[in-house]
Amino acid sequence: MNRRTRVGIIGAGPAGLMLSLLLSTEGIDSLVLESRSREEVETTIRAGVLEQGTVDLLTEMGLGERMKREGALHHGIELRFDGEGHRIDFYELANGRAITLYPQHEVLKDLIAARLNQGGHILFNVNDVQLYDVSSSQPRLRFVHENEQIELHCDFIAGCDGFHGVARSSIPEAKQQVFTRSYPFGWLGILMEAPPSAKELIYTYSERGFALVSTRSPELQRLYIQCDPNDDIANWSDAMILEELQLRLATRDNWKLLVGPIIQKSILAMRSFVIEPMQYGRLFLAGDAAHIVPPTGAKGLNLAVADVRHLARALTMFYKQNQTHLLEAYSTTCLRRVWRAEHFSWWMTSMLHRFPDDDAFQQRMQRAQLDYTVRSRVAATSLAENYVGLPFDW
Ligand code: FAD
Ligand code: PHB
Repeated sequence: MNRRTRVGIIGAGPAGLMLSLLLSTEGIDSLVLESRSREEVETTIRAGVLEQGTVDLLTEMGLGERMKREGALHHGIELRFDGEGHRIDFYELANGRAITLYPQHEVLKDLIAARLNQGGHILFNVNDVQLYDVSSSQPRLRFVHENEQIELHCDFIAGCDGFHGVARSSIPEAKQQVFTRSYPFGWLGILMEAPPSAKELIYTYSERGFALVSTRSPELQRLYIQCDPNDDIANWSDAMILEELQLRLATRDNWKLLVGPIIQKSILAMRSFVIEPMQYGRLFLAGDAAHIVPPTGAKGLNLAVADVRHLARALTMFYKQNQTHLLEAYSTTCLRRVWRAEHFSWWMTSMLHRFPDDDAFQQRMQRAQLDYTVRSRVAATSLAENYVGLPFDW
C-alpha cells in the first residue's frame, strides 16, 4: 500500500510527537511511526526535569493545564558535599526562571492525546522501518504495520527515533563525524513509594560516589546512585540500595531520607555522543538520534524539544514562504545549543562523580570546583542559567 505525507516522522518520543504537533499548528501534515506500543511509550520511566523554555512551549501549545496541576515547580537545587547542603537559587540567579518536575511519560501522554484529538495519526507497533532516497527531493519510508507493507512518500523525513534508532545510519559515513565519550560509571535508579525527603533536588558528591534525590509525585520518589555500569541489578537488594543512599546522603546535622517500598529499579549506562551534521539531504535528525548527554544536567528531553522547535520553524518557512535558509542552517543552529548542553552535562558529571582511577589530587580538584560553585555568585549563576535552560534563540 502507498501513502503520502509531507513529513514522515520516525519515533513517538518527545521529539517526534512535539514535531508533529508543532507542524499541525501550521497546517503541515505529518505521520508518526513508532515501533513500540502506545502503552509502553506511555509507561516507560525516563526524564523528570523540564526547563523553563520547555514548560513555556507546552503551555503555549495548550498543554500546560495538567502539567501545572500535577507537576511541581522548583526554584532551586541543593548541592551537597562534605556532609553539608548548599542551595543554588535559580529563581534569584536566573531572573525568575525555574524548572518543573513532571515525568516524561506524562508529557508523552499529553502529547499523544493532543495529536489524536486533532485527528492526527500515530502508527504504533510498526516494524522494519527503512529509509530510501533521503538525498533526493522525494524520500520514502517503508515499514510494516498490522501485517501490511506500507510505502510512505514524503517531502522530508525526521529521524526522531532515539539513540538506538535506524535513521542515523542513512547518513553515509564519509558525510558524518561522530564525537563520543563513555563514563566509567552508571546510575542505579529507583522508584520508591515514600513522601519527598526534600523540597528540591539534591545532587550529592560523596566519598562513596554520587547520589541524587529527585521526585515524581507527593507519593513517589525517584533516586539515583552512581554504580558500576556493568553491574547486574540483581546484585542489589533493596536494603543495600537504601543503605548506600543513606551513607552517601548523610549530613552533619543528621538529615533523614524518608523511605518506603522500592517498586522499580534499574541500571543505566552513561555516555556523551554527538553526530555532525544533524542533517543529510532531506533527512533531519532530532533529539537522542543525534546526541546523548549523561543525565546529570537533566538536558536530554529539553534538547530534543529545542531541536524540533527549530525544525518546525524551518519547515514552516519552507512550506509557507518557499525559503530554505532555515532548513540549511538547521544543523548549525541546533549544534550550538547541543554543544553547550554537552559541556554542561559533562561538567556536572565530572564534578559530582567518583572516578575509579581518581587520586587525592583529582578529588581536591572536585572539592575546589564544588566550593567555588556554591560560594561564588558568578559560578552559581552559570550553573543556574544552564540548568533552567538558555533562551530558545541563544
Ligand atoms: P526517545 O525518547 O528515545 O524516543 C525515540 C522513540 O523512537 C522511542 O519511542 C522508540 O521506541 C522509537 N523508535 C526507535 N527506533 C525506532 C524504529 N526503528 N522505528 C520506529 N520507532 C523507533 N532528559 C531530561 O531532559 N531531563 C531529565 O531529567 C532526564 N532524565 C533522564 C533519566 C533517565 C533514567 C534517562 C534514561 C534519560 C533521561 N533524560 C532526561 C533523557 C531523555 O529521556 C531523552 O533525552 C529523551 O527521551 C529524548 O527524546 P527523543 O524523542 O529524542 O528520543
Ligand atoms: C529525574 O528525576 O529522573 C532526574 C532528575 C535530575 C537529573 C536526572 C534525572 O539530573
